[in-house]
Amino acid sequence: SLEEAFEETKKELTITTDQLNEITNHFVDELNKGASVNGGNIPMIPSWVLNYPTGNETGEYLAIDLGGTNLRVVLVTLLGEGKFKFSSEKYPIPEPMRTGNSPDELFDFIALNLHNFVISQFGEINKIEKPLPLGFTFSYPALQTAINTGVLKTWTKGFDIDGVEGNDVVPILQNSINKLKTPINVVALINDTTGTLVASKYSDNKTIMGLIFGTGVNGAYYDMANEIPKLHGKLPDDIVENNEPMAINCEYGAFDNEWKVLPRTKYDIQIDNESPRPGEQFYEKMIAGYYLGEVLRLILLDYYSKNLIFKDQNIKPLQVPFAMDTSYPSRIEEAKDKSFIDELFLESFNIKITSIERNLIHDLCILIGTRAARLSVCGIAAICKKRNYTSGHCASDGSVFNRYPNFKSRAHNALNDIFQWNCDTKDYPIQLIHAEDGSGVGAAIIACLTEKRLEQGK
Ligand code: BG6
Ligand code: GLC
Repeated sequence: SLEEAFEETKKELTITTDQLNEITNHFVDELNKGASVNGGNIPMIPSWVLNYPTGNETGEYLAIDLGGTNLRVVLVTLLGEGKFKFSSEKYPIPEPMRTGNSPDELFDFIALNLHNFVISQFGEINKIEKPLPLGFTFSYPALQTAINTGVLKTWTKGFDIDGVEGNDVVPILQNSINKLKTPINVVALINDTTGTLVASKYSDNKTIMGLIFGTGVNGAYYDMANEIPKLHGKLPDDIVENNEPMAINCEYGAFDNEWKVLPRTKYDIQIDNESPRPGEQFYEKMIAGYYLGEVLRLILLDYYSKNLIFKDQNIKPLQVPFAMDTSYPSRIEEAKDKSFIDELFLESFNIKITSIERNLIHDLCILIGTRAARLSVCGIAAICKKRNYTSGHCASDGSVFNRYPNFKSRAHNALNDIFQWNCDTKDYPIQLIHAEDGSGVGAAIIACLTEKRLEQGK
């Protein structure tokens, strides 16, 4: 019966405290393994962002931010004392550009928008005296041997463009920029989590990590350079002598690709099998915004195939992969008036739902969102355990964090389940804090830190 099916799904999607602990402990091992000489599933990518920002960095920098829902171009003015101002433009990435057989289409699109942005900010480009330094936030796993290089390891979040994996994306972007003769030098490549970490640390010294809960999920934190075994022998002398901090982009969306602890359901497995990169990003595929609507869709299709819901209806529009983006479960859960769900299904999929189905869909969305939030904090808890952090601010951004109802409170509850704080929520020693537009500002600060080191001849 439908009740039985729902109870079964509920059991599968519920993450108990014991599971949280088991997953977190395995997560710590995997973070350590990723940092070891042999490496593991979690790439633990050294970002070459050395030292903490002081808050006193100043100057004007350009940044572009690619990797979530939008391309953003930002002009940041760092004012010092932890303050900054910026102006930015947002451009949705046209869906067909996410896939394709040459990088040109996407990178020329970026360069063109950048070119027009520079003109809108500075007037004619031939009036610009020296090339503008640009920080490139590229939110995919790019392996870095220096701050201004990044070889794409694998596309994530449904992107699949030929000719980029295995290549350094900095020259690819620089080439597209040069075609338009825009006076810009790409000086740093940054992950969005690293950008969020650095930008938040610039103005809030309690920041301990930068996190994205958006189309993808990932986190960055500062580790002491000498404590990353795989970096031994590869660091500048001054960094080794002083055991300076370096930001690490964990790329922990790849956590548990060996599938030892994650309670993956048949829906998660199907999502993976049908993705452009099966076998990768197991953790991300259970919790990130790119997939949450798809989980809901697959559950509904499963129930339909068992003749439990949408009886005698033509559900063709719902059979299209990714027909529901994450705004569906998110809006459904948020709806004060549940008749909204009826309208949504009618308008989007031409399906008439009954009141029982309406409640079922609403409850499924709660389960999917709660599971995502609870599993999401295992990465946070693992970094805290690894670094012995018992308090601090986790700077967080991304569409799921910002827009999925109750995400933050559910995440805080789950953290409390793991750490058993026994106090009021507002007093939890580890807090998720909203970090607005971190990546653009972070890219600017990193570009500035990079210039400083270069000036010092390091
Ligand atoms: C934005 C950040 O706010 O959030 C980006 O500026 C980041 O750098 C993005 O990639 C992640 O969210 P989403 O939901 O767009 O993937
Ligand atoms: C994916 C990317 C990662 C990024 C995250 C959030 O996991 O691989 O680089 O930080 O999404 O945008």
